[in-house]
Formats: sequence, structure tokens, C-alpha cells
Amino acid sequence: MSPQIELNDATPASSSPHRPGTIAVFGATGRQGGAVVDALLDHKARVRALVRDPHSDRARALAARGVELAAVRTDDPATLVAALTAVEAFSFMTPEANSLEEVETEIRIGTALVDAAVEAGVPHVLFNSVLGADRERGVPHHDSKHTIEEYLGKSGLRAEVVRPAPFMEEMAPKLEHGEIVVRLPMPEDAPLKMISVRDLGRVAAALLLGLAEAPGGAVELVGDELTGPRIAAAFGARAGLPARYEALPLSVLPTELDRVMFREFAEAGEHPSDLGAVRAIEPDTLDLAEWIRVTGWTAPTHVAGS
Ligand SMILES: NC(=O)c1ccc[n+]([C@@H]2O[C@H](COP(=O)([O-])OP(=O)(O)OC[C@H]3O[C@@H](n4cnc5c(N)ncnc54)[C@H](OP(=O)(O)O)[C@@H]3O)[C@@H](O)[C@H]2O)c1
Repeated sequence: MSPQIELNDATPASSSPHRPGTIAVFGATGRQGGAVVDALLDHKARVRALVRDPHSDRARALAARGVELAAVRTDDPATLVAALTAVEAFSFMTPEANSLEEVETEIRIGTALVDAAVEAGVPHVLFNSVLGADRERGVPHHDSKHTIEEYLGKSGLRAEVVRPAPFMEEMAPKLEHGEIVVRLPMPEDAPLKMISVRDLGRVAAALLLGLAEAPGGAVELVGDELTGPRIAAAFGARAGLPARYEALPLSVLPTELDRVMFREFAEAGEHPSDLGAVRAIEPDTLDLAEWIRVTGWTAPTHVAGS
């Protein structure tokens, strides 16, 4: 397959005041990459999205917002190098892995993207890793990100890493018998660290545009850390309803990967995060109560069990 760069015919974004060049984003049709694009466009940056299908609805929606599309295949280095040529900075994440085989694929994609960035001479690379990936912790789909971080570190590229906590967007409170119920496979007294996807995008954009720097090259993205009962209380307060938390056993999780991940989340909760670190880059980083408010969250209308 030959490298393909598609320029859309929408009005091009005007240049960022800080970095006038193009910022490339991998995963732009997904949650993280999408948030990075949103924040870059808010800064009026010029964005090129590396997509596997430029004709997908999500890719077309990006093009309609002024984003340049570059068709890539992660197993075809020439497409990646072509897509990263002459960009000012490059943001990438790696896709979700739900099995050990997918973990291998994740590492393959991450290292292929780093190799392509080296080949294309990208001046600045940002990897969306995961909280805790500063070292191996026995969580396969987090250790994969540690491997990619190390690979990136040795690449010679000017690189930064953001390490996001679990996303606030993953919370799924239920309404049962007039009560908000939050269930997680976490002990009642273990704080869960969290960040909104919006803020991940905002921090990434600030780093990519040179508006901020990650101290020491890496920043942990934790906007809030709350125990289950406090998470439930935050949703209950918004809904004006009583709320309760139910700690589930790890055995409810479908994969061993998820079980070791939640065990690690509980352990990580024992070590408070510096909630100021992310706010030093994005002062408006949301805590959970603010996220609930700004997203307009309302209690689910489906009333389970009543
Ligand atoms: N969930 C959490 O709370 C959380 C917290 C921290 C970190 N993470 C990490 O976040 C990552 C997932 O991020 P996300 O939620 O943004 O994912 P997502 O919404 O599922 O998006 C995945 C993106 O990757 C692209 N993609 C997947 N495979 C590709 C391939 N082979 N070639 C080209 N593009 C490919 C997809 O493109 P298409 O449109 O073509 O599918 C899409 O743009 C995982 O690594 C996870 O461990 C998750």
C-alpha cells in the first residue's frame, strides 16, 4: 500500500501562536486522541490525524473540522514515516489490550510508531502511557506501556510522557430504588485515582504546543482520588438522591488482566498523588464533582430492580 495523505477541503485551522507547524496525532478517532485533537483545535493548531480508514465516519468528522487525514497501517512503516514527515510534534497512544496476544500487538504498534518518528526526524514526541508505567508492576497491559516508554526513551527522540489515571468517563453509576449506586471491584477504603479524558487532551496539547513542559519528561495525570463511597456521594449530590457504594470482588472482572489491574489500582490508592502536578500544566483540570457538573451528567433514567 502506498503512503496516502488526504487533504480535506474544509477551512484549514489557523496556526498556533507557539508552534506553527503540523501536530500529528495517532488514535484521533478514539477517546484519547480525540481529546488531544479537540484541545489542539481549541489552540487553532494545525492537526494531521494518522488513521487506518480515512473514509470512516469518525475520520470524516475530523476532516470536516479542518483536520488533515493521513492513511496509515501500523504494519507498513512507509505509511507511518510518510505521515510523520515534516510534522512539528507527534502524539500517540496505544490501543486497548484485553489479552496477552493483544499486549504484544500493543507493544508492536507503539514501537513501530517510535521507529517511524525516528525515521521521519520528528522533533518532539508525546506518548499517552498509563499511570504507574514508570516501572513494571505485573499488569501486562500497563507493563506494555512501560516497555514502550523505555523504547521511546532510548530512541534519541525528544520525548515526553503523560501517564493518565483511569478515566472519569468509565464511571457508570446506577439508579436503583431511588438511590444512586456505584459498584467497583475496589475495597471501600481504597481511593481510586482518576482523570477526565478532556483534561488528558488539554495537557497533551499544552505539551505538544510547547506551552508547558512535563517536569523530568513525564507527568502523572490524576485530577482526583476518591474512595468508592465518596464517588457515590459525588454522583448522589448531583442527582439530589441518596447514594451508596458496593465493593465488588475482583472475580466479577472478565479477564485476569483486569483483575491484576484493579489490584494495582487499590495498591496505588495507598500512595496519595500530587493533585497539583497536572494543574501546574492545566489549571482547570476537573475533579470528579466538577466533571459531573461540566458534562451535565444526570442520573440514569433506567430504574433497575424497581
Ligand atoms: N480506560 C481508561 O480508564 C484508561 C486510562 C488510562 C489509559 N488507558 C489506555 O488507553 C488506551 C485506549 O485509549 P482510548 O480509550 O483512546 O482508545 P479508543 O477510544 O478505543 O481508540 C483507539 C484508537 O486507536 C486506533 N487504532 C486502534 N488500532 C489501530 C491500528 N492497528 N492502526 C491504527 N489505528 C488504530 C483507533 O482507530 P479506529 O478508528 O480505526 O478504530 C482509535 O482511534 C489503552 O491503551 C488503555 O490501556 C485507558
